[in-house]
Parts: sequence; structure tokens; C-alpha cells
Amino acid sequence: MAADHPVLFFDSGVGGLSVLAAARLLLPTAPVIYAADSAGFPYGTRSEAEIAARVPALLGRLVERYHPRLVVIACNTASTIALAAVRAALDIPIVGTVPAIKPAALASVTRTIGVLGTEATVRQPYVDDLAARFAADCTVIRFGSADLVEAAEARLRGESVDPARFARALAGLFDQPGGDRIDTIVLACTHFPLVEADLAAAAPRPISFVDGGAGIARRAAFLTEGQRWPSAPSDGVAVFTRLDDRERKLAPALASFGLASLVEL
Ligand code: DGL
Repeated sequence: MAADHPVLFFDSGVGGLSVLAAARLLLPTAPVIYAADSAGFPYGTRSEAEIAARVPALLGRLVERYHPRLVVIACNTASTIALAAVRAALDIPIVGTVPAIKPAALASVTRTIGVLGTEATVRQPYVDDLAARFAADCTVIRFGSADLVEAAEARLRGESVDPARFARALAGLFDQPGGDRIDTIVLACTHFPLVEADLAAAAPRPISFVDGGAGIARRAAFLTEGQRWPSAPSDGVAVFTRLDDRERKLAPALASFGLASLVEL
């Protein structure tokens, strides 16, 4: 494996940057391709069939173009629906992102946890399965918010975001029966750790937020253990399936995550 083979991070939009940031801590000199399916964004309001058709095909093109050593699907929606199909189609290691229900269940004192994701993610059988396996003695309350995904994108474009939008997303959990007992919230969409401080500020009481970033980073480091890496960090590349003004406004935020250039696939 040549040292310059990149790690490819994939999301519908900027959410995967939260995973990239965690991975950079463990793999500081890894060459990075960050791919965002801006032409398909948002995933959270799409059907299972659309995502299942779109994601493996697109990752196939990206792998052919960039020859990554590892792919990180830094998107809960794509992972909970298409991870198995992507693994079957591609011949390289694939790390997925699934809701961090296990650490949340370990941490919750009230045994009541919230899962805040996209509408598509929170209805997946994959989530039922995680809840049954790792949080059987907890009440698990779910809410899907497309608006919170848009708020995170807007924030990274440098726009100001009304704090009421964060409060409304949390109310989607707290206002459900038993929601007043939630002490831990799983950020089950990779966009949401990017606005964790806004969520914490909007919460009516102290809440622990849990996401999968650090676990995914450890998995990526484990799967590439012993491989050669460049001796110094290099600028990463952000690849968009559609590169318009909306995406170009992200350039300063992308640069702060080490992604110096924007290209269209
Ligand atoms: N960031 C993605 C996730 O983790 C999806 C956001 C979207 O496109 O709706 O679920």
C-alpha cells in the first residue's frame, strides 16, 4: 500500500466533517478525500429504495477515481440502509456510521435515551436492532429532523441560524411520552455533532450528547494499522456531485477541516 493512498469519507453533505475531525486525531497525516453527494442531498427525506440505489453506485465511481485504502461512510442514513450493499460491491474495507446507542445506554442514569437522526434513519430496522441489543432496559425515544440537517449546513455556509430551530429539534424528543426523563441523546446524524454546542445551549436542562465519531476513528485506525502514511499532513480535497454557489460558500469551513480545494465529480 503506497503511502499516498487516501482515506475517503462520504456523506450527503457536510455532516461527515464531524467524523473526519475525529479521524484526523488518530491519523493526522492521512491523505483525505471528502466526498459529498450534494446532488442527492438531503438523504434523510428520501426513500430506502432511492438511497439503496444511489449510494453503492456513487461509491463505486469514487473508489475507481480516487483508489482509497479505506472508505468511511460518514452518514448514518446511508449506512443504516446501504452498508451491506456497499460492502458487497466494493473490494476494500468499508467503515459505516450507525447510531451510538450502545455508549448512550451505558451512560444513561434515567435509562431513557433520545435518538436524534434523520427521518430515514430513525425508522430503520437497524435502529430497532441496536436498541434491542444494547438498550433493552432503556426507553428509547426517536425523532427525525430534516430541519436540523439544513441548520447545520447553513451554519457551515457561515449563515446565522435561529436558535429556535435547535430548541424545536430537541422538543421533538422531549415532547413525546416519557421524554421528560431523557438524560442522554444520541446524535444519530453526522451533521448534528457540528451543532452540538447550539443544541446544548437550547436544551432546557443539562443533557449528555453522544456520537459515533471517536469510535469510527478508532475503527479506521485499526483497519489501517501497520500501513505506510506520508510523513507530514497534506491538504485534502472536497469532491461534490454538484458544485454550485451553495457548495462554494462552504469553502472557508472546509478549509478549517483541512480541505483546501473543491472539485466536482
Ligand atoms: N449526515 C447524514 C446522516 O448522518 C444525512 C443528512 C441528510 O442528508 O439528510 O444521516
